[in-house]
Amino acid sequence: MNLALIGYGKMGRLIEELATARGHRVAFKVDIDENRDGQALTEQNLRGVDVAIDFTTPEAVVRSVERVTALGVNMVVGTTGWMNQLEAVRSMVEAKGVGFVYGSNFSIGVNLFFRLMEAAAAQFRQHSQYDPWIYEIHHRAKLDAPSGTALKLKQILEKAYEGREVSTASNRAGAIPGEHTVGFDSEADTLTFTHTARSRLGFASGALHAAEWVRGKKGFYEFSDILSG
Ligand SMILES: NC(=O)c1ccc[n+]([C@@H]2O[C@H](COP(=O)([O-])OP(=O)(O)OC[C@H]3O[C@@H](n4cnc5c(N)ncnc54)[C@H](OP(=O)(O)O)[C@@H]3O)[C@@H](O)[C@H]2O)c1
Repeated sequence: MNLALIGYGKMGRLIEELATARGHRVAFKVDIDENRDGQALTEQNLRGVDVAIDFTTPEAVVRSVERVTALGVNMVVGTTGWMNQLEAVRSMVEAKGVGFVYGSNFSIGVNLFFRLMEAAAAQFRQHSQYDPWIYEIHHRAKLDAPSGTALKLKQILEKAYEGREVSTASNRAGAIPGEHTVGFDSEADTLTFTHTARSRLGFASGALHAAEWVRGKKGFYEFSDILSG
């Protein structure tokens, strides 16, 4: 595949390394200096690109989607913190007839964790003595809080609890790649379920899997949908 990388930070660099090792070509890459308003996302720069992968910032990502989809290029978006614009992005993607995969977390383990927590919440909500809660911690440079993954867990739990608000907390410190805990607490006991990322490799590998999957396809997909077929 010919790939474009939008955002050349920690994730962009790792994806480049992995993509090259898997035999793909990074045909174009851009960081903020040349692309502050999305001006580098032109027909000329993206010519021949099969999939553009965006790992930028919550402020930059919607402009990227606007420009890339207008050029008819498929996209994978790993950037988090833009879910309040999900419907606007979906309309853009559908209007341009391109393929698009987004995910708050591209680790396969986290996506299985989502499904397990859906099942756990369905059990615990039948026992009102248990209160659900969510906690996450990430490295000091992460811009959004709560993380997109914590918000997805919150959405899963609140759906199971029919709209009841689930208490959610975040910390930012050091170099932690990401840790998410879901707990259920009662007078009698506490149950905790934790996913700990060891490195960013799982995210990069999942993003590439999404790019390989969406190549040549049309439609708007969440990463968890493509994993479950
Ligand atoms: N879905 C997942 O599995 C997953 C996993 C890890 C991270 N993420 C998310 O992915 C995003 C990036 O994470 P990261 O760890 O790679 O962060 P990072 O190291 O800060 O990288 C983001 C890069 O994008 C650049 N950028 C900002 N605006 C841009 C623009 N308009 N055009 C091109 N590049 C631009 C930044 O430049 P400056 O630094 O100069 O501003 C930076 O180099 C975050 O939203 C994070 O939450 C998602």
